[in-house]
Amino acid sequence: MTISIQPIDPVSRPFFAGEVSGIDITRPITREEATSIAQGMDQFGVLVFHDQRLTDEAQMEFSRNFGELEVATTHTVRDAAKTRLGVHINDISNLDNDSNVLARDDRRRLFSLGTRLWHSDSSFKEVPAKYSLLSARIIPSKGGETEFADMRAAFDALDDDLKAECETLVCEHSQLFSREQIGFSNFTDDERRRFAPARQRLVRRHPSSGRRSLFLASHAGTIVGWPMPEARMFLRDLVEHATQRKFVYAHTWRQFDLVIWDNQATMHRGRRYDASEARDMHRTTVAGLRSTMAEAA
Ligand SMILES: [Fe+2]
Repeated sequence: MTISIQPIDPVSRPFFAGEVSGIDITRPITREEATSIAQGMDQFGVLVFHDQRLTDEAQMEFSRNFGELEVATTHTVRDAAKTRLGVHINDISNLDNDSNVLARDDRRRLFSLGTRLWHSDSSFKEVPAKYSLLSARIIPSKGGETEFADMRAAFDALDDDLKAECETLVCEHSQLFSREQIGFSNFTDDERRRFAPARQRLVRRHPSSGRRSLFLASHAGTIVGWPMPEARMFLRDLVEHATQRKFVYAHTWRQFDLVIWDNQATMHRGRRYDASEARDMHRTTVAGLRSTMAEAA
């Protein structure tokens, strides 16, 4: 087998989402294959692999080709001592620890609805995520797509004055800010401490491709030095700009798809599905190397 990466939409978005074929990632891959995938990620930003029946162990092993894994359990309202999955697997499901579908008003489900807002994974951590790798184990009969927006194209499309202004700005990111937007606010004191904001540059330069992008997320709730309402409106306008359909790829899941996205260059959001149906997605997250504040301007 020879690895091949082809644009999913070669006409309107030729360098955003790619489909990878000619590789079985459920087994150890070669260094050359890992390099091809990393180069594909720099070029595209989102890569789709079909028919990969990954176990959690195999998913972790594959993910470690691209860096250290984030620990998954400290930034959610799920009880870290009683998680369904291991500490390096983010539980992107609507299931409880016995794999039953959560009740519609379950607090864990309501918190997780925040992932339906546009965001970049772990932007609320001082060192935000590099890649996320999401494996579809059980999918609902319809809905539940994941949409991706290209933050490099969004930056490139700003006029020069706005680019210059954005380049000077630093935002504060917290899950308190994103959940507030959907009316989820009954946090415990412990959660408020754990969800303390992290500062991130609004414009990033990609560590390997060198391309600049807008680092936006629903977690961004303030701009340092700005009045709050002005900051919120400015960020809202930027998100509206950055998520125009011309910058977006919508992924319709097949069971056993694995999708990798680069959180340094994209935003994403989950879409609605029937709350009574099971959806079980397992995410590994490759940690970034440094805070955006320490990245070259
Ligand atoms: Fe996410």
